Amino acid sequence: MKILITGGAGFIGSHVVRLFVNKYPSYQIYNLDKLTYAGNLANLTDVEDRENYTFLKGDIVDAVFVEDIFSEHKFDAVIHLAAESHVDRSIADPLAFVQTNVIGTVNLLNTAKKHWAENLQNHLFYHISTDEVYGSLGEDGLFTEETPYDPRSPYSASKASSDHFVRAWFHTYGLPIKISNCSNNYGPNHFPEKLIPLAINNIKNERPVPVYGKGENVRDWLYVLDHARAIDVIFHKGKVGDTYNIGGVNEWKNLDLIELLCDQMDQKLGREQGHSRNLITFVKDRAGHDLRYAIDSSKLMDELGWKPSVTFEEGLSKTVDWYLENTEWLENVTSGHYRDYYEEQYTNR
Ligand code: NAD
Ligand code: TYD
Repeated sequence: MKILITGGAGFIGSHVVRLFVNKYPSYQIYNLDKLTYAGNLANLTDVEDRENYTFLKGDIVDAVFVEDIFSEHKFDAVIHLAAESHVDRSIADPLAFVQTNVIGTVNLLNTAKKHWAENLQNHLFYHISTDEVYGSLGEDGLFTEETPYDPRSPYSASKASSDHFVRAWFHTYGLPIKISNCSNNYGPNHFPEKLIPLAINNIKNERPVPVYGKGENVRDWLYVLDHARAIDVIFHKGKVGDTYNIGGVNEWKNLDLIELLCDQMDQKLGREQGHSRNLITFVKDRAGHDLRYAIDSSKLMDELGWKPSVTFEEGLSKTVDWYLENTEWLENVTSGHYRDYYEEQYTNR
């Protein structure tokens, strides 16, 4: 089987690529990535020389490029992760999110439909999405697969739009699709603009840890490897046309989470307990900041037998250890040196 994974140089995509390359040696895995600021091929050094792995540098918005790779490689399936993914950036530059998340997705759908027209039923377009499409919860309740869409940030609006297009290609053209909507991920290789890796980096360097508003917003955190495992299960066993919510049953108020992180890091760095909490700095709130996300993933658990493999304390501790051990990765990302990796490693191949 030939699988095109888009966005495979990013945070979640790199874990999905690694899992598929290692677990399914008979599959050919193609990683299509534009290498935006969020794409980092150093996330994949351990699989880059495998025979069943190929990197394709390109833009999902570029119709000619996408047509060319479908013609050349004749993919059987697509797992689509490429996206602009950061809410704060979407507030500053919404059009970039429309370009990649909406137009890029439609471009992939169109090309897949065209190339698979002869035997649609032997193919699959699996779209990776977010729980943020469901909007914001109050104190109670959980997002289920039936929760109406109510996106409120430019990021979530662009992802909601892409989900609608994927379903439209299923209903209108019969393209076999699956969608999963996952809660906030954390773990190794997370770009340090998102809350957890940013806080780890700042605590390590004794810099202020910015907490938006009063730190009362709630997120439902899932270890990234558990998301990759869920994608594997849904890809192989999920029902065509269906949606699956993925979440860790693991809600944390931002402030409580940051305090736990400070305490774990004080212990690991041999600092006095309470030391790093002094770095917590309340800053201006995010515009339109969604109060609470929380996922009901009982459909995925009951029908497909998936469940998270680590507790939050374990996952967070592993994540901190990874960042403390992989100082070169972090230094290359924060200095911008990671952007040279493609030229250094790939241009003479
Ligand atoms: P990321 O920002 O770390 O990675 C995105 C990747 O897509 C990068 O490698 C980037 O270079 C690539 N990319 C961006 N624009 C592209 C384009 N036009 N053409 C080709 N490649 C392009 O994102 P992530 O956190 O790994 O998220 C991956 C997917 O999972 C996204 O679709 C996101 O919406 C979804 N998701 C993320 C989370 C989360 O907590 N991070 C939760 C649920 C769902
Ligand atoms: P983030 O990691 O950007 O993910 P998302 O916005 O997709 O949930 O933010 C997680 C939560 O942390 C969110 O409520 C915003 C908050 N936050 C901070 O308080 N400080 C920060 O520096 C960042 C980046 C986020």
